[in-house]
Amino acid sequence: VNAVELIERKRDRGTLSGDEIAWLIANYTEGTVTDYQMAAMAMAVFLNGLDDEELAAWTGAMLHSGAVLNFASVDAPKVDKHSTGGVGDKVSIPLGPIVAACGVAIPMMSGRGLGHTGGTLDKLESIPGFRTRLTPDEFAAELAETGLVLAGQSDDLVPADRKLYALRDATGTVPSIPLISSSIMSKKLAEGLNALVLDVKFGSGAFMPTIEQARTLATTMVGIGAAHSVKTVALLTRMDTPLGREVGNANEIRESIEILQGGGPDDLIELTYALGAEMLVLAGLAGSIEEARKRLGEAVNSGRAFEVFLRVVAHQGGDVRYVQQPDLLPEAPALHEIRAGSAGYVTVCDARRIGIAAMRLGAGRERKEDTIDPGVGISLRAKPGDAVEPGSLLASLRYRHPARLEEALRAIDGAWEIGPTPPPAFAVVAERVD
Ligand code: URA
Repeated sequence: VNAVELIERKRDRGTLSGDEIAWLIANYTEGTVTDYQMAAMAMAVFLNGLDDEELAAWTGAMLHSGAVLNFASVDAPKVDKHSTGGVGDKVSIPLGPIVAACGVAIPMMSGRGLGHTGGTLDKLESIPGFRTRLTPDEFAAELAETGLVLAGQSDDLVPADRKLYALRDATGTVPSIPLISSSIMSKKLAEGLNALVLDVKFGSGAFMPTIEQARTLATTMVGIGAAHSVKTVALLTRMDTPLGREVGNANEIRESIEILQGGGPDDLIELTYALGAEMLVLAGLAGSIEEARKRLGEAVNSGRAFEVFLRVVAHQGGDVRYVQQPDLLPEAPALHEIRAGSAGYVTVCDARRIGIAAMRLGAGRERKEDTIDPGVGISLRAKPGDAVEPGSLLASLRYRHPARLEEALRAIDGAWEIGPTPPPAFAVVAERVD
C-alpha cells in the first residue's frame, strides 16, 4: 500500500478498503505516514466523505491504534454517556452516581474544557485533592468497587486521535461529520462498553448550530456503534440557553450536588433523567423508560446516588467535606451583577455569549495551555420565560481580576433579550435517534 495512491483515490471520490484504512491509520500513528500526507487525506475526507463501511473501518483502525479496555472482571453492564459539549453542561457529574446507584458500571472518561464549553475534568478538580489521572489498575479497581470512575482518558487509548485531532485543528478539517464521529466513537468504544448514550447538542452554544447537522452527526455515530456491536442511542438536545443556572467550575459542582440531593433546576433534572433512563434500559436493568425513571428517582431520594458520589470523590483523593458542605468550594471574592433594563419576559439567554464570558472570567480555556480558575463563574437568575422588571437581577458574575470582568462584560453584552410575551416553551430533549 502506498499513502499517495490512497490520497489520490479519496481525492478522486474513490473508496478505500478496510485493510487500506487500517494500514493508513496504523502507519500514521507510528509516523511512517507523515503529517503532510495525513493532512491531505483529512482534507480529501473532509471534501468527499467516507461511506458506512469506510467509516466503520476508519473508527475501528483508530480504536485499535492503542490499548482497548476490557473490564471483563466487572459483572455489571458497562454503559457510558458522551455529550458533544455545551454551556453549563454538568450532566455527567450527577448522572454518573445516579445511574451507578442503579447497578450500571460507568467507566467514564471525560475531557477538559476548550473555548466556550466547559469540561467535566476541570469541574471535578475544583474539589480539592480530586485526581482525574488514574493508573489503569486504579481505574479498574475503582470501577469494580464503586461502579463509577470519573477520570481523564489514559495516554495509551486511541493515540491516533490525539495526533489526528491536532492535525485537523491546524488544517481546517475539524468540522467534518465522518472525522468528528470517528474521533468521538473510537474513544468511547475503547472503554470496552456494552452500550453508549450520546447527547448531541444543537443551538448557539453547541458544536452543531442546527438540528439537521446534529441529526446527521447522531445518526452517523449511532451507525458506528451498531457496526461495532455496541448498542448506541442518541438524544438531540437544545443548547441555545445554558443548562441549569450555574456556569463555571465550582459553581457547576454545587449545582450537581443539588441534583444528587433531589433539587436543582428543571432543565438539568429533565436531561439528567432522560439520559439516565436510556442508560438503564440499554443496560437491561429496566424494561421501559418509565420504569427506569422511577428507579433513578429512588436512587436519588434514598440518598444512594449521593453516597456513590461521596465514595467516588474519596476514592479519587478528593476532600469529601467540600461535597458535604458545598459552601466550602472555591468562590472568587468579587461580585458583579447584571440587571434588566426593561420589563417583560426573557426571550433569549444566549449560551454562546455566556459561555465565552465565563471563559473570559477564567472558567475556561482559550488555548489548551491556559489555566482554570475554579472559583469564577456566572449564576443565571433569569432564563427564557421568566418575567422581569427594570432592575431585576439577570445574572451575578464572580470574578478575581477587574480586567477579566471587563472582557467578560463585553462578551456577555446582548446575551439577554426581553420581549412583551413569553417565548414558546421547548423541552430540552428534541429527538431520539436509535
Ligand atoms: N470532539 C472530539 O472528540 N473529536 C472531534 O473531532 C470533535 C469533537
